[in-house]
Order: sequence, then structure tokens, then C-alpha cells
Amino acid sequence: MNTTINQPTVLITAGPTREAIDPVRFISNHSSGKMGYAIASAFLSKSFRVILVSGPVNISLTHPNLTVIPVNSADEMYAACQKYFPSLQIAVFAAAVADYKPAQILSQKMKKSAHEFSLQMVKNVDIAAEFGKVKMPGQVSIGFALETNDEEQNALKKLYTKNLDLVVLNSVQDEGATFGHDTNKITIINRDFLFQAFPLKSKVEVAEDIAAAAIKVSRKQVETMLL
Ligand code: CTP
Repeated sequence: MNTTINQPTVLITAGPTREAIDPVRFISNHSSGKMGYAIASAFLSKSFRVILVSGPVNISLTHPNLTVIPVNSADEMYAACQKYFPSLQIAVFAAAVADYKPAQILSQKMKKSAHEFSLQMVKNVDIAAEFGKVKMPGQVSIGFALETNDEEQNALKKLYTKNLDLVVLNSVQDEGATFGHDTNKITIINRDFLFQAFPLKSKVEVAEDIAAAAIKVSRKQVETMLL
């Protein structure tokens, strides 16, 4: 990686996580990682150093200023992120992290039986919320809220409970704005309750909007600190 002095660093989480049940099975979701990778490209084009902590996806991205850290589970994603928390200026939590993981990972393949079975799940670490607890002045964090109902209320709750600076809301009800599409329709909400609604755009254009909004908040924070 080419790192120049004072080059700002952004950490981005992307893609799904996989929570293992046994050596051959896992629980996951439909996240393609396209949004997170597009955000990484947007920051690279703005000369940021980018740390991309990525769940399993079918996208490859290379750039001299990019470090990709491939992970599977939420615990692995958190461990990879923690290392960079003290040194980043902007964190964008775009990953679809599994909220729960199996209480136990079986060491051998689970065999079929004649009976029903239920799987005990325990809560996963909330990576964005953990960063929210240790965030220093001058560091900003952006999270996503993909909602099916009570969209604005749920997004605001995430903004405050995870101590985010911006929350990017997208609704499953908007056509072309869900998993796997090349388009997205977002509203960016800040801590002053300012709602900025964007039309349906390509994920590349949406990523530019998110990066621009994040950089604006980051600069504003630094300016406030210098006053
Ligand atoms: N997030 C995270 N770690 C988790 C869960 C979520 O970092 N364990 C981040 C996501 O990357 C996203 C934001 O928190 O930026 C909101 O994620 P989401 O799944 O929408 O919300 P949850 O807090 O998991 O709440 P719920 O699933 O109940 O809507």
C-alpha cells in the first residue's frame, strides 16, 4: 500500500457475514457487497487510504491505496476492524452483519435424524455500536438502516443508539433499492434531523453521494475542533 503522510483513512465494512453451524453449514444473508465496494471506490477516487473489511462476495477490487481484509463471521469482522479504530477518520458500516450466531459451532458435520431440531442462537457483537462507544473527537461514523416499516423512526434509533454521525436509510419498499440490485435509493439523515432524500441512482452514484456527505461531516468536525 502507498501511504502518504496525513493521508486520511476510511474503514468500510461490506458484504454479508457467515455464521457457522458446523464445518459444512452456515447462516448468512443476501448482501452482495456492491454498495460497500462502490463506497470504497468512491473514497479511493478522493485519495483516501481505504481499509475494506469484507464478508464473502464475488467482487474484486485492487488499488495501491486499498487494503482488503476478507472475513467470514461477525466476530472476525469485528476483530479486523478493531485494529484500525484508533487510526481512522471515517468509518462506513455497510456490511449486513448477522445479528445472531449459533451458540455452538459443531466440530463435526451434524447428521440427519428422524426428529425436528432447533438451533440456539446468541447475539453477535454490534460493530458500529462498539465503534460508537470508543469514537474520538474528529472521527465520524456512518451506518445504514435497511428497513421495511417505520423507516424514519428506526433509522433515527440507529443513529443515536450506535452514536453515528450519519445514517443512510433505504427502504425495502422502494423498487430497485434492495439486495443485489445495481441501483439504490437513499435518504441521508444527520444528527440535526436533516433529511436529504436522493432519487433512484446507480450504486456508483449513490456511493459518491455517501462519500461526499461523510467527508463534509468529517471536515465540519475537524473545523469545530480547531475553533
Ligand atoms: N451493524 C454492525 N454490526 C452488527 C449489526 C449491524 O456493524 N452486528 C451495522 C450495519 O453495518 C449497519 C447498521 O449497523 O450500518 C444497522 O444495521 P441493521 O442490520 O440495519 O440494524 P440492526 O442494528 O442489526 O437492527 P435490526 O436488524 O433490528 O434492524
